[in-house]
Amino acid sequence: MSDSVPGPAPGARTHRLRVVDVVAETADARTLVLQAPEDGADRFAYRPGQFLTLKLPGADGRSAARCYSLASSPHTGEPLKVTVKRVAGGYGSNWVCDRVAAGHELEVLPPAGTFTPSDLDTDLLLVAGGSGITPVLSIAKSALAAGRGGVTLLYANRDEGSVIFRDELRRLTEAHPDRLLVIHWLESLQGLPVAGRLAGALAPYTGRETFVCGPGPMMDAAEQALRTLGVPGERIHRERFFSLSGDVFDLPAPAVGEESASAGPGTTADVELDGETHTVAWPQGTVLLDVLLAAGVDAPYSCREGACSACTCRVVTGEVKMLRNEILDDQDLAEGYVLACQSVPLTDRVGITYT
Ligand code: FES
Repeated sequence: MSDSVPGPAPGARTHRLRVVDVVAETADARTLVLQAPEDGADRFAYRPGQFLTLKLPGADGRSAARCYSLASSPHTGEPLKVTVKRVAGGYGSNWVCDRVAAGHELEVLPPAGTFTPSDLDTDLLLVAGGSGITPVLSIAKSALAAGRGGVTLLYANRDEGSVIFRDELRRLTEAHPDRLLVIHWLESLQGLPVAGRLAGALAPYTGRETFVCGPGPMMDAAEQALRTLGVPGERIHRERFFSLSGDVFDLPAPAVGEESASAGPGTTADVELDGETHTVAWPQGTVLLDVLLAAGVDAPYSCREGACSACTCRVVTGEVKMLRNEILDDQDLAEGYVLACQSVPLTDRVGITYT
């Protein structure tokens, strides 16, 4: 294998990141330690719990996109790290675990995702299963480094050998004995983490903002347990997994045609992005992302199908309607978050921020 992943030169949205180390966390999980590009370091600023989209050579000769959560924290000075666990029969995870080595380069989209706490100073309850620990570890480290609250982590695994980050979690507990409590749940000893059993373990922490990431049945069980305990849905944040159906690296440029631009009175949008405010005409029926890209604004996106959250922004004035939303939850919507790739305007003037 060459030092670089094969593929075309990166476009404006993608960056080549050098793999500086590969760490075997368990028999079937690897952490890639990545070097942010010097000329694009600001594009790789991230919030705890976000993910990177990696470009992999696909089995059919075309490229494939896979999203992996960052295990590192933006508050500890550590390099970017993504952790990948093999999925039986999964092309992307096995390719990464088998083929990627230190010195290789990967083509990567900037961090994205909404599975991130709005306040690091509050007490947090984190529930993870298997490789779902990855974004949860990022949140825990960030809260401990930059926040003031307590963190309780319930971490479910098949057995002791499948516990990812065991040593790092132990070190964190030793460093923050008054603020971090890790409750390991081993199925080999305690059985499956079903709702009835989880409720007992989670009951003392129900007043907290809660983040849940893991296999679907485990997240369902955790949510059911929390709801049974009276935790309102808006306090339960679940990481959503999605598959990107298209080639997000080689999407054609969106067209905002004259016909669309001249149809009806349209809207004016004031869009704050990277410290600049862009005022653009927003034709009715056209999604915001297309308007911004056509205007030359370097707005973030990945799937353009309402499934990944890379284009998330917030409405500060006016109203929009989303055509499709597979990823934002009720809490996100209540806080004004929308997907730029799916938002069409409903009012004459709309204010948007990406901060
Ligand atoms: S780009 Fe993926 S949801 Fe908008």
